[in-house]
Amino acid sequence: MEIRASLYSEKRKQADLLVAALFEGEKYPSKLLQKMDPAAYATFEQAIKANRFSGKEGESLPVFGTTNFSEAKDILLIGLGKKDAFHAEKLRKTIGNILGRAKCQKSKSVRFLVESFTGSKVSFAQASGIIPETLWLADYKFDKYLEKKKDAPSPKVEKVDLLSGDAKQEKALQSAVERSEIIAQAVNLTRDLINEPANVMSPRAFAGKASEVAKKSKLRIKVLELPEIKRLKMSGVIAVSQGSNEPPRFVVLEYGAQHKSKGTICLVGKGVCFDSGGISIKPSKDMEKMKYDMSGAATVVGTLQAISELKPHAHVVGIAPLVENMPSGTASRPGDIITYSNRKSVEIINTDAEGRLILADALLYACENYKPKAVIDLATLTGACAVALADKCAGLMTNDSAIGKRLITAGEAVGERLWELPMWEDYFEIIKGHHSDILNAGSGYGGTITAAKFLEQFVTCKSWAHLDIAGVAWVDSAKPYNFRGATGFGVRLLCEFLESWR
Ligand code: BES
Ligand code: MN
Ligand code: ZN
Repeated sequence: MEIRASLYSEKRKQADLLVAALFEGEKYPSKLLQKMDPAAYATFEQAIKANRFSGKEGESLPVFGTTNFSEAKDILLIGLGKKDAFHAEKLRKTIGNILGRAKCQKSKSVRFLVESFTGSKVSFAQASGIIPETLWLADYKFDKYLEKKKDAPSPKVEKVDLLSGDAKQEKALQSAVERSEIIAQAVNLTRDLINEPANVMSPRAFAGKASEVAKKSKLRIKVLELPEIKRLKMSGVIAVSQGSNEPPRFVVLEYGAQHKSKGTICLVGKGVCFDSGGISIKPSKDMEKMKYDMSGAATVVGTLQAISELKPHAHVVGIAPLVENMPSGTASRPGDIITYSNRKSVEIINTDAEGRLILADALLYACENYKPKAVIDLATLTGACAVALADKCAGLMTNDSAIGKRLITAGEAVGERLWELPMWEDYFEIIKGHHSDILNAGSGYGGTITAAKFLEQFVTCKSWAHLDIAGVAWVDSAKPYNFRGATGFGVRLLCEFLESWR
């Protein structure tokens, strides 16, 4: 889908569809529409006067095939509800729904009157980014394994024009479109990595994909294999991967070494390409979803691709430990004790609490090798987090409230919300060991927090934030701008966060 900014006055070949929006209680459609297309304007005005359309949320008024209209074959007026209640996330959902509708009515070219989608909480600048970004996100699908039906190809929107009133607005709009494209492509790359099944996306294959991204995006990359992993005594990665025939990988991607003086930020992502639970095997219901247990790692790769083009002034290192968690005669047993490079010992009382075991190595590696100003990890770490927060926000746990606030703010700006959970020291008691320093699992209560307390034992830098994305990395049914499956949660948030890093 090609999206570009243009001026409403620019008379191009007639588009298939023109979309404008109206708030509840507004008597007149956009002034711009009046200038563009007096005939359409009059039609809508009439409909509003006749109480056939009032701008309520979810309302829409289509006008089909009227040749009087100069701008488009069809025009669609969308209700946005009360102006004061309108916000960015409503805009995203609306845009997603509009794309679906445009496809249904076979509109191949669509023009948006951007100005009509702005309200008290959504500026023209914000709408300029949100509209193209959401169109690209909503257009994503994962259908590569479906037998394509050539005689009935699914309808596509091929061209989108985002219309503004003057040349200055148009310029700003065009740069917002360019930034959105970078970000949406990165989110969709992340979704592809996650949706790919585990028989294809093994740790080896994932590392191969990361190398392709690095090459294309001119990022430095290191891929550690088993001998090196053993030499570095990454006990968690070894213990989790030893039950699988797929060997582990440890990927390190690097952007912006020239910005080192501003301090390094490490992004660490859980990369369990399939989580069967190991010897503490999971029930079979929903186990197929556990291919998404590498969402954190995929988010890190997507984010690095995006920032290689957005070029923020920061030194960013992306770290992804990659394993497959399987039961077998060589798998770790419940009761096994492993010792980390910081000399802390862990009793693996549950082999299904594997994410924290590999993240411990990655956090130690990050802090030791880069002495970073901040470490942010993302992990589909606990079912408990999905139970507590559903798919509405991710869990945030941190040892530094300042970075926590900045992450929350970045998340709110892009519609990827975070909710902070406490990290009081007595939560550690739940995972204190007897035969070892630490247990890898608690009692079941407070599972999201005890998992974070585990990770904290392996953080040696002052500013660390942990995002538990178990509930938000995947959706079981389609959303207005999300194909069923991976969401790519975190890429947009991290881009926003890194761009404002100083
Ligand atoms: N990958 C799972 C967490 C998960 C569960 C993510 C469901 C998404 C949906 C993780 O490795 C795990 O199994 N965690 C256990 C921890 C427990 C054994 C302490 C859990 O959440 O039950
Ligand atoms: Mn598990
Ligand atoms: Zn897991």
